[in-house]
Amino acid sequence: MNKKTVKDIDLKGRRVIMRVDFNVPMEGGKVTDDKRIRASLPTIQYVLDQGASLILMSHLGRPNGGSDPEFSLRAASEVLASLLGRPVKMAPDCVGPEVEQMAKALRPGEVLMLENTRFHAGEEKNDLDLARQMASLADVYVNDAFGSAHRAHSSTEGIAHFLPAVSGFLMEQELEYLGRAVSNPEHPYIAILGGAKVSDKILVVETLLSKCDKLIIGGGMANTFLAAKGYNMQDSLVESASIETARSIMAKAGNKLLLPVDAVVADKFEAEANSKVVDVDKVPAGWRIMDIGPKSVSAFKAALNGARLIVWNGPMGVFEMPRFAEGTFAIARLLAESGATTVIGGGDSASAVKKAGVAKQMTHVSTGGGASLEFLEGKELPGVAALQDK
Ligand code: 3PG
Repeated sequence: MNKKTVKDIDLKGRRVIMRVDFNVPMEGGKVTDDKRIRASLPTIQYVLDQGASLILMSHLGRPNGGSDPEFSLRAASEVLASLLGRPVKMAPDCVGPEVEQMAKALRPGEVLMLENTRFHAGEEKNDLDLARQMASLADVYVNDAFGSAHRAHSSTEGIAHFLPAVSGFLMEQELEYLGRAVSNPEHPYIAILGGAKVSDKILVVETLLSKCDKLIIGGGMANTFLAAKGYNMQDSLVESASIETARSIMAKAGNKLLLPVDAVVADKFEAEANSKVVDVDKVPAGWRIMDIGPKSVSAFKAALNGARLIVWNGPMGVFEMPRFAEGTFAIARLLAESGATTVIGGGDSASAVKKAGVAKQMTHVSTGGGASLEFLEGKELPGVAALQDK
């Protein structure tokens, strides 16, 4: 990575403001998955060990530019305090006189969590005045929020114009592993894409096709490709507007592109629907594809054999419903056993490897959803671009 990190800057006695991505899933006011908080611990610990004081900021959810207790970061700050084993003070806002007082009073080794940056409408507009107020709280800016690096917001991009700006270890690690998918990958390199929509992933498909040796496509998006091949997908999700694009991608990709050959179909989009396995050219009238079938898993297994690098983004089926999860879990297990460098683009595929019980066997599971997708499209992320070059 050509960006400076916390290791390239003297932090002793300084006040550090660090953007983290604590946009964590919540239920009934409780954090239900602390992966993103845990992932930020190495940088937090390092900054504190250097004798700095630390101000943390993040967004949570989409509160529409106003203060809303439902989107408070207090619960996340409590999880952090227990993981860190030291107190984390909670600020009532992310800027303003009271926050300035709290920031000024911090001593080395102390941590202050600011309230949700999206309680200010200026945040998502990358308002520079808001960014300047955030910057005024500290001497150094650290960005460890890979999951938000595709957003050009005051706390991710704007602020970097006002302070020495460096990356944290999570950001560095994400760029290192996801970077292997798009620059100088090891070969054989197999990419696997899934998820519902082709339209969301056209750029990723094109970027990965130009880098990998084989591209496996499963999940709802495969239906549009199968429809482009002339198969009747019946009630399956198909994006008619993308059929032409799918056809031209297939023409260019030739036998680099692998599609499912069979599928688990259901008579309704419901967990308890009737289901059976059919070849993809025999989806019965009134039925829909919900998962890849066992012949597809075998074909994909053969394609993965001997791979040095496997990058996976997007599930193979409706894995939230147990009856339609097997294809996705089978792929997760194949990756775990592959011996290859395995990189999981976050979001649904991250939760799939976790549910399959193999997350720890992956080389890297990204904490980014949208950010990892944009990165795999080959885009430069604004939150990264704004950091100082080495
Ligand atoms: C994410 O969860 O992908 C990031 O935290 C970004 O959230 P956003 O899509 O609301 O900007």
